[in-house]
Amino acid sequence: MNTGSITARRLLGRIHELGDIGRDEAGRLVRLAASDTEKLGRDRLLAWLREAGLQIAIDRIGNIFGIWAPESAGGNAALMLGSHIDTVINAGIYDGCYGVLAGLEVIETLKSAGFQPARPVVVAAFTNEEGVRFAPDMMGSLVYTGSLAVDEALATIGTDGAVLGAELERIGYAGAMEPGFLIPHAYIELHIEQGPVLAREGQSIGAVTDLQGISWQKVTVAGDANHAGTTPMSMRRDAGHAAARVVTFLRERVRASNAPTVATVGCMAFEPNAINVIPSRATFTVDLRDPDEARLQGEEAALADFLQRIAAEEQVEVHVERLARFQPVRFDSNIVTLIEKTAQARGLACRRMISGAGHDAQMIARIAPSAMIFVPSIGGISHNPREHTPEADLIAGANVLLDVVTSLASH
Ligand code: GLV
Ligand code: MN
Ligand code: MN
Repeated sequence: MNTGSITARRLLGRIHELGDIGRDEAGRLVRLAASDTEKLGRDRLLAWLREAGLQIAIDRIGNIFGIWAPESAGGNAALMLGSHIDTVINAGIYDGCYGVLAGLEVIETLKSAGFQPARPVVVAAFTNEEGVRFAPDMMGSLVYTGSLAVDEALATIGTDGAVLGAELERIGYAGAMEPGFLIPHAYIELHIEQGPVLAREGQSIGAVTDLQGISWQKVTVAGDANHAGTTPMSMRRDAGHAAARVVTFLRERVRASNAPTVATVGCMAFEPNAINVIPSRATFTVDLRDPDEARLQGEEAALADFLQRIAAEEQVEVHVERLARFQPVRFDSNIVTLIEKTAQARGLACRRMISGAGHDAQMIARIAPSAMIFVPSIGGISHNPREHTPEADLIAGANVLLDVVTSLASH
C-alpha cells in the first residue's frame, strides 16, 4: 500500500516547539534526564501522543511508549520506533527529538491513510540517552533490554548528587510497567548524523550498518596541595600537571595512528582550584571510541599503562572508575537493505555508514533486529546549539521512515 507522505508542517512545528521547552535564563537548551525541564518536555510529548489517540505506557525506568494497536495488529509483536528527548547541556533541537517526533508523525500519517498494520506500531522515548547527569548513557534502553537491572539503574547518583529513582518519582515519570514488557519485532531509529559525512557528500540518507564501541572512564589523580611560589618544580606532586599529560598523551597517540579511534577529555576539575595552589586532586573523564573491539581494548590498555607510568613519574596516585563500556554493534542487514531500497525508490541519494555517536538502537539491537536511518548535520555539528539539518532532509528522512514502517508493518 502507498501510504503517501508525512505532514511536514506538523513535524517541523513540533521539533521547534519541543526545542523551545527547557531553556535556561541564558536561552540554552538544557533538558537533562529526569530534571524539571525534562519533565516539561515529557509532558508535551505525552499530550501529543494522547492527541494522536495512542495508548500510553511508562515503565519503571521512565521510558515512554505511545502504542498504536488497532484490531488488524492482532497479538503480533510490535514494530518499535523511537529515540530520546533528554539533551546535553546547551544542546541543539534535533538530537533524539527528531526520531521520537518523526515516529509519532509516521504513526499519525499511517492512521490517516487508513493503513491497517499487521502488527502494533509503537513510538518510544527512552530515558537518559545522553548520560550527562547519570551514567551510563543509553540507560533507559539498556535497562529495557534487561542488561542492567532496573533497581541498580534507579539507584544511580547523578553529577548533582540526585538519585535517578527519586528524581523520576518527583517528576511523575516512575512508571508501573516492567522494562522489556514489550519485545519488539524490530526497532528503527531515525536520527541526525551528528557528523560531517552526509552533508559533505551531498547525500540525504544514511543507512547505518554499524555503531562503534564506546568506553567511558573517570580518572582521579591525587597529589599534594602546596605553595605555588615556594615549592621547587622538582618537589611537586602536581595532580593537575599529571592530568594534563594524560590529555596530551591521548590526543597525540590517537592522531599518530591511522585508525578511526577518537578520544575526548570532556570534563576536568581541579582541587582546590586556586591560582596559587598546586592542585592536590584532578578528576577528569575519558571518552574513547572505535568501531573495532580489539583496537578499542588496545587503546584502553595503552591508557592504563600510561596512567601507571604517570603515577610513578609524577609521584601521584591514580584511581580509575569505569562509567560505561559498550562493544561495537552491527545492525540488521535486512533492514539496512530495506532502508537503502526505500531511499532509492524516493529518489534520494543514500550511502551505508557507521555511527560515531551512541544511540538507543545499539541497546535494543540486543533484543530485536534493529537499524538506523541518518540525515545530514550541517558542518557535522552536534551537542551544540548550532546543530542544524535542512528542512528538506528532515522531511526526506521521515518519509523514508514512513515507507520502511509501511513495509515492516504490512506482514
Ligand atoms: C550520545 O550522545 C553519545 O555520547 O554518543
Ligand atoms: Mn541522540
Ligand atoms: Mn546526544
